[in-house]
Order: sequence, then C-alpha cells, then structure tokens
Amino acid sequence: MVSSSSIEYKKRMIKTWNEIAPRYHKRWANKSIGPFQSTQKLVKMAKLRSGYFVLDLACGTGAVTREILGKIGKTGHVIGVDTSKTALQIARKSIKAENADFAIFDAENFEFNQKFDVITCQYALFFFPNATKALHNIKKSLRKGGTLVIATHGAGNTVPYFSNILDSVQKFIPDYIPSGAPDLDRFGNKAGLKKAIAKAGFSQIMIQEYKFWYSPGTFSKYLSDYLKYLAKPLKEKIDKLNPKQKAELKQAIKQKTIPYTKNNVIKFPWKVLILSAKN
Ligand SMILES: C[S@@+](CC[C@H](N)C(=O)[O-])C[C@H]1O[C@@H](n2cnc3c(N)ncnc32)[C@H](O)[C@@H]1O
Repeated sequence: MVSSSSIEYKKRMIKTWNEIAPRYHKRWANKSIGPFQSTQKLVKMAKLRSGYFVLDLACGTGAVTREILGKIGKTGHVIGVDTSKTALQIARKSIKAENADFAIFDAENFEFNQKFDVITCQYALFFFPNATKALHNIKKSLRKGGTLVIATHGAGNTVPYFSNILDSVQKFIPDYIPSGAPDLDRFGNKAGLKKAIAKAGFSQIMIQEYKFWYSPGTFSKYLSDYLKYLAKPLKEKIDKLNPKQKAELKQAIKQKTIPYTKNNVIKFPWKVLILSAKN
C-alpha cells in the first residue's frame, strides 16, 4: 500500500528538485567535483559496451547519462528518467544526441517494453521512500545477466559536508526533516546497501568504497553556499530562528568544521559507495 506520507514526501521531492535543479547542475553535476568523481567510476563498473540499451534512473540533469553515451556508441541507446521536469529539461538541453531520450518516471513505477542491459542510479536510491519497490522494478526491467550499478553517499559523519549542518540544525529545529521522509543514511554503509540489493534478488554484489575530498572554501563560504542551495521550505525553517539561536547554530556548525580546517580553508572527506550487481 502507498502511504499518504510517502505521497506527500514525493510531492515535496518533485517541488524541491524542480526548484534546485538549475543550481545543482551548475554547482555539482560535474565529474571532477568532490563526490561526483564517482561518475566515471560508476560507469566503468557498469562495463558498458557498444550497442547497449541503458537506463539512467533518477538521471537528474544528466551527469551520468552523458558518460554512458560516450561508451555505448552510435548503436547504443540511453534513456534518462527522473521525476523532476526541470532537471530533465536541463539534461535534454545539455545532451543533444539522437540515441539519448529523457522521460518523466517515478523509480517505483516505470515500465518499458524492452529490457535494459544496464541500469545506473547515482545518488538517488536513498530518496525513494519505497526503495524495495524501486529495486523490484529495476530487476524486472533488466535482462537476465544485466547489470545494476548504484552510487550512494556514506552515512552520517563520513560526509561531514552534510552531517555538520544537519546534526547542528536538528538540535535547534527538531522537525527540520519533515515526518514521512525516509532515512537518507540507510544505504550509506556496505552492510545496509548489500542487504537491500540481495533481498531484491540480485547476485554477484560488489561494493567499492571511496573517500573523495571536497573543499567548500572558508567557513563563511561553506555556510552561505549551503544555505543558498537549500530548498525553500528548509531555508524558511532556519530563517525563523531568533538572532541568538542563529548565532549559536552558526557557532555549533563552525565547531564541527575545525578538524577539517587548515589556513581558514575547509577540506572535507566524502565517503561514497559504488555497487555493482547482476540480475
Ligand atoms: C542528487 S540527484 C542525482 C541526479 C543524477 N543521478 C546525478 O548523479 O547527478 C537526485 C535525483 O533523484 C530524483 N528523484 C528523487 N526521487 C525520485 C523518484 N522517486 N523517481 C525518480 N527520480 C527521483 C530527483 O528529482 C533528482 O534529480
């Protein structure tokens, strides 16, 4: 059964990604930036061949789709799907190839009349409230022996870029993460990720763990950029704090960045898991 909280959550996700996709594309969706160094590694693990039919699930603005295109030749075909129409518009505009198509689909509810050789999913599995359903859907859509590759962020403070701010903000705003939201850390460790993929019936599961580095600059740049790229509803919650609370919050976050700061510049480690599995 689909719960009303997961429907609400999905609506919020669509709104959020429609709002932040242009900023996301500009700032993050670049294979040389911090965690996005995963893009080429993920595509390499997919062992793509010329002529392959590939699905890039939750393709966003097309960071992975573009890399896939470079590997499947003119006879291959890639389809990027996502729930954000703004993200898809950006992907369509920046990737103009006859053998790339983009379409709006929810990861938990898509169907194509041809099976894929490979399905990729970078930095999105944790966003699906019913990830089990999405994984069953993926399995059904892959040919026998086809490959699934997934990239996820590490959990908790293995990605201090997120956790420094989230952990501090939640002390001041307990309902900062709206109820009904899935636990975004649930696939951020090898055991949790492997269990979910094995349970969905995949075999030959391999997980590589990476530690990338990302420098957001000085503390004030880190904080102001983070707030600038935050979706409106979350920003509004922070804006409602009184000046004293805001100052305390800032101090709490700053304290957490000290171990990563040298000569006033922050450099964060960023754990990433990349999984490959066979149908
Ligand atoms: C962090 S972005 C990753 C985009 C892309 N894979 C990349 O590596 O740049 C997460 C994407 O997941 C999409 N998304 C979230 N929930 C989804 C769902 N249920 N079905 C399909 N896409 C979804 C969002 O719209 C967003 O574009």
